[in-house]
Amino acid sequence: MATSSAPLLLLLYLAVVSPVAARAEDLLAAARAPETAAWLRGVRRRIHQRPELAFQEHRTSELVRRELDAIGVPYAWPVARTGVVATIGSGAGPVVALRADMDALPVQELVGWEYKSLEDGKMHACGHDAHTAMLLGAAKLLQSRKEDLKGTVKLVFQPAEEGSGGAYYILEEGVLDDASAIFGLHVDPALPVGVVSSRPGPFAATSGRFLATVTGKGGHAAGPHNAIDPIVAASSAVLSIQQIVSREIDPLQGAVVSITFVKGGDAYNVIPESAAFGGTLRSMTDEGLSYLMKRIREIVEGQAAVHRCSASVDFMEETMRPYPAVVNAEGMYAHAKEVAGRLLGEENVRVAPQLMGAEDFGFYAQRMAGAFFTIGVGNESTMEQLRTTHSPYFVIDEDALPVGAAFHAAVAIEYMEKHASA
Ligand SMILES: *[C@@H]1O[C@H](CO)[C@@H](O)[C@H](O)[C@H]1NC(C)=O
Repeated sequence: MATSSAPLLLLLYLAVVSPVAARAEDLLAAARAPETAAWLRGVRRRIHQRPELAFQEHRTSELVRRELDAIGVPYAWPVARTGVVATIGSGAGPVVALRADMDALPVQELVGWEYKSLEDGKMHACGHDAHTAMLLGAAKLLQSRKEDLKGTVKLVFQPAEEGSGGAYYILEEGVLDDASAIFGLHVDPALPVGVVSSRPGPFAATSGRFLATVTGKGGHAAGPHNAIDPIVAASSAVLSIQQIVSREIDPLQGAVVSITFVKGGDAYNVIPESAAFGGTLRSMTDEGLSYLMKRIREIVEGQAAVHRCSASVDFMEETMRPYPAVVNAEGMYAHAKEVAGRLLGEENVRVAPQLMGAEDFGFYAQRMAGAFFTIGVGNESTMEQLRTTHSPYFVIDEDALPVGAAFHAAVAIEYMEKHASA
């Protein structure tokens, strides 16, 4: 049996597995070709030297458009002020989206290297420069294969991931209404180059913030009976809020409420009119966040009432929109994991832990099937120094750029092939 089935298996392998595996290899080799790798490094370095904060990515957006023009890829612009959405493929479905973010952080770069930030107090300390370069790399790989694409790829270069929810505004403009799936990458300095990682289901947290104001009646501190003390009311509320996570949330579900400031009063002998406090709330599910918001409001109002005060709670939902949880669709996670295995070797595809950090990719994943992966940008020397994202010492190994470009492109190509209508 063994002797007769071996050729059959080989034949099967050649007919079914090999073309896909070979193409994954092709994409990686093309991205790693010296000329392309050098171009990717150059793009990343130019973006790195001129970091721009949320919704101010004018120069970065222009660089993206110039590079897309040079490779002949059409795009829509401006989308959500500075965003660019490029389109490659047949124009017909299936439509799959790939996403990168372009904004930097208000961090002063302390890395001494040739291409360090030239902007005072601004730095690409979260790797969005690498994300943008990787997606431009994917554009190049996809464009050179555009006749063979079995559908349409939309490449989203979005503004304002850091806090302002750029993804929400991209979706508002309707440019992704026809997309059925979306994939995104984030650099991870704790993983070596050539490794990617993710998990099915809830991956990154949903996060919100709140400001509570408790109002009483100001007066002389020697006559508390003539005043209504908002400090005691606020203190009670702060302590009661600590019981939400410990007493009301399933201990096996992640949730956080951290009160990060308390303000009230200016003098030793005056009971102030009001006191305020606020902080962050996070959960691994959107329902979990709604629950925290509901309970924070009830507790603040309740504790204020107990102490004869009034209260208001502001979750700033319009100005600082809470990010939904990043929940990876099982099918999209499985798809990208399988592609990554072929591209990088199965031993280089890891299962990630859940993150209490938030990512505005959650807005896309709420609207369509999505999967978000982290991609290794560390090497032996950088990983030893533990330079996390948002650190002024954050560095990446640029050998990760071709890996990200090929992973993006392969995920999209194979998605379209799987979902092409016959
Ligand atoms: C690791 O990455 C750093 C930062 O980019 C780079 O300077 C260094 O040459 C890399 N080291 C190795 C061994 O590749």
